[in-house]
Amino acid sequence: MAIKVFTVFGVRPEAIKMAPVIAELARHKEFSVSVCVTGQHRAMLDQVLRLFNIEPKYDLNIMRERQTLPETFARALTGLGGIFSADRPDIVLVHGDTSTTFAGSLAAFYSQVPIGHVEAGLRTHHKYLPFPEEINRKLTGALADIHFAPTETAKRNLLREGVSDASIYVTGNTVIDALATTVRPDYEYHEPALRQVVAETQGRILLVEVHRRENWGEPMHEMCLALLDILTAFPDCHIVFPVHLNPAVREVVTPHLAGHSRITLLNPLDTDDFHNLMARSYLILTDSGGLQEEAPSLGVPVLVLRNNTERPEAVEAGTVRVVGTSRAGIVAHARELLGDSAAYQAMSKAVNPYGDGKASGRIAKALLHFFGHTTERPWEWTY
Ligand code: UD1
Ligand code: UDP
Repeated sequence: MAIKVFTVFGVRPEAIKMAPVIAELARHKEFSVSVCVTGQHRAMLDQVLRLFNIEPKYDLNIMRERQTLPETFARALTGLGGIFSADRPDIVLVHGDTSTTFAGSLAAFYSQVPIGHVEAGLRTHHKYLPFPEEINRKLTGALADIHFAPTETAKRNLLREGVSDASIYVTGNTVIDALATTVRPDYEYHEPALRQVVAETQGRILLVEVHRRENWGEPMHEMCLALLDILTAFPDCHIVFPVHLNPAVREVVTPHLAGHSRITLLNPLDTDDFHNLMARSYLILTDSGGLQEEAPSLGVPVLVLRNNTERPEAVEAGTVRVVGTSRAGIVAHARELLGDSAAYQAMSKAVNPYGDGKASGRIAKALLHFFGHTTERPWEWTY
C-alpha cells in the first residue's frame, strides 16, 4: 500500500512552497498524495493552484472578508478535523506558520495522525514578532513528528527546544525549487499592466510588497511616506507594488500612493510574473518572509521593513538588511543603496543560503526513511 500523504495549506506562500513537494511526491510510486486546502486565502491561493496545476481533493473555502484569527483558526481546525477522521491519511504535511499550519497540525494530532512540518524551525525568539506566526510555528514544532528544517540555523533552533536530532532533516527551502521553474531570461509577463510598466520604465524599478499584521496601521503609514520620500530623492526610480488583497493593507496603501506618476499599484501578481519581476528589479522593499528567501538567489538586494527576521542567513551573507519601519530609517538605508553604487554592489551578489532547488527531493527521501522504506538518511542541504 502506498503511503497516504495529505498536504495541507491555505495561503499563497504555503501553496508556492508546497507545490514542488506535491510534484515530487507524485513522482514516487511509494506515495499517494492528496491536497487539502483550507482556502484561508481565496483569489491569492487560486492563482497558485492554477499556475502549478494543483487540484485539491478537499477545499474548505473558509476565507471571509476581514477574517479574525480565532474564527479562521476555528473554521480550519473543525474542517480539517472532519477530513482527517473520515479519510485517514498516514501523514499530514503542513507548511510554515499560518493559522492553517497550526490548525492542520492540531487537527492531525487530534486524529493521532503523524505530522511533517515543512519549513520548520524558523524563529525570531520574540513572541509577537511576527504575529501570530512565531507562536504558530513553535506550537506546530511541538506537535510535529518529522521536521524539515530549511537551514542549519533552523535545525539549531529546534534542537534548543528539545526536538530530537533524529527527527530533523535539513532540506533547503522548497521555495528555491519553485523559483527554478518560474524565472527565465526570455520570460514574457502575462499581466498587461506589468508588461507595460516594465517596457516603459527606463530607470530603476523598486519592488514593494508589505502585508504583515504587526505593520498594519501606523508602521504601514510610515512605510508609504518613506516610499514617497525615496521617489522625491531619486527621480529615476519607479515603484511597482502588487498590493495584497487584505483591506487592512489596501486602505493605507491606496490613499497614500495611488495616482503618483512613478508608482504602479497592481493586484497580486501570478507567481511566475512576480518572480520574473523580482529578477528585473533593482531593489526590493518588503516585510514578506518568502521574498527574503527568493531575492538573494536572484542577486537582488532586499530592505526588510521589520524590526527583526527569522531568516538571518541572507542578512549574514550581506544581501538582506533589516531596516525597521520608521520613515527616517527606511529612507536612510534606501538613500545609501540607491546613491552609492559601491554599497549597492556589495549587496547585490547572488547567494543561496536557502537551498539548491532540491529540497523537495530531500523531503521525499526523508519521508521514505521515516516510514522505513529505506534505512539511509537522505543527504542534507549545507551552505
Ligand atoms: C496570512 C498569514 C501570514 C502570511 C500571509 C501571506 C495567518 C495568521 N497569516 O496573512 O502568515 O504571511 O497570509 O500572504 O495565517 N484576502 C482576500 N483574498 C485573498 C487573500 C486575502 O480578500 O485571496 C483578504 C480577506 O479580507 C482576508 C484578509 O485578506 O480576511 C486577511 O487574510 P488572512 O489570511 O487572515 O491574513 P493575511 O494577512 O493574508
Ligand atoms: N508573490 C506572488 N505574487 C505577488 C507577491 C508575492 O506570487 O504579487 C509570492 C512571492 O514570490 C513569494 C510569496 O508570494 O513566493 C510571498 O508571499 P507573502 O509575501 O504573501 O507571504 P510571506 O512569505 O510573508 O508569508
